[in-house]
Amino acid sequence: MAHTIVCTGRGGVGKSTFVALIVRYLKPPSLLIDLDPDLSLADMLGVDFREQGKRTVCEALYDVIEKRKSNVSPSITTHELMESLLWSDCLYERPSFDLITLGTKFTEGCLCAPDNLLRKTIPKLAKNYANVVVDSPAGVEHLNRNIVSNINDLFVLCDPSEKSLKHLARIKEIIKQVGTGYNHFYLVGSYEFDEETEAYLQNTGEIYLGKIDYDAHVEEYNFEGKTLLALPQDSPASLSAKRILAKAGYQIVS
Ligand SMILES: Nc1ncnc2c1ncn2[C@@H]1O[C@H](COP(=O)(O)OP(=O)(O)OP(=O)(O)O)[C@@H](O)[C@H]1O
Ligand SMILES: [Mg+2]
Repeated sequence: MAHTIVCTGRGGVGKSTFVALIVRYLKPPSLLIDLDPDLSLADMLGVDFREQGKRTVCEALYDVIEKRKSNVSPSITTHELMESLLWSDCLYERPSFDLITLGTKFTEGCLCAPDNLLRKTIPKLAKNYANVVVDSPAGVEHLNRNIVSNINDLFVLCDPSEKSLKHLARIKEIIKQVGTGYNHFYLVGSYEFDEETEAYLQNTGEIYLGKIDYDAHVEEYNFEGKTLLALPQDSPASLSAKRILAKAGYQIVS
């Protein structure tokens, strides 16, 4: 069974960057799941879904639902059809990682249908991977949606603010109430921390793994839309991600 990692935290704290940074150090193959409707992880990994003829889960699902309005007796259920589409149309494949993105919903209403689909399908997909890595949208609402309910390592990215500590308490309460299982609850400091403010995270009672160092390359690559997979191995952010994974007990590859 795949080792399941979920990265979460407040808006703009560096979640997607962290996911893109750790990919190269994880035992392959990894299945990356982008739950952020804003699709930024694909950009950070240099993945162009359209160019590869791939679709987001929302695109595929709502297309199927629309087409089914005129088909009164389909031979298989929407769920069965979508599950097969998820393996084919929505799974972007590379040698070291595959990627599925939830995508943007352009009509009114909740994301219950794509959420349910992912909740049921991820455990089946996971059997083919060493790791499943989830990049979450900002905030806590995705935790209520409980798309991944058995987490090995929950990495909570934190920024230096009082709000960040309150955010931690909210995360813990939600996953307790929702019944999400996890083995480890890890704190990771964002690049905005300095030594003085880092003390903040060292005294929360949670396991603090360290911070991601500020890295001008990361800023530049993200600004220019260049893949973070091309970052030099010795770039400060890459080395921080490697150090953090090693501290969490991961066997580092590459
Ligand atoms: N180590 C770093 N050094 C410099 N800039 C960084 C670093 N990590 C992240 N950033 C910058 O911070 C910004 C936010 O990063 P990122 O998109 O990874 O955050 P996020 O938490 O995923 O955001 P969102 O909540 O919108 O999904 C980006 O512009 C990115 O370039
Ligand atoms: Mg993000």
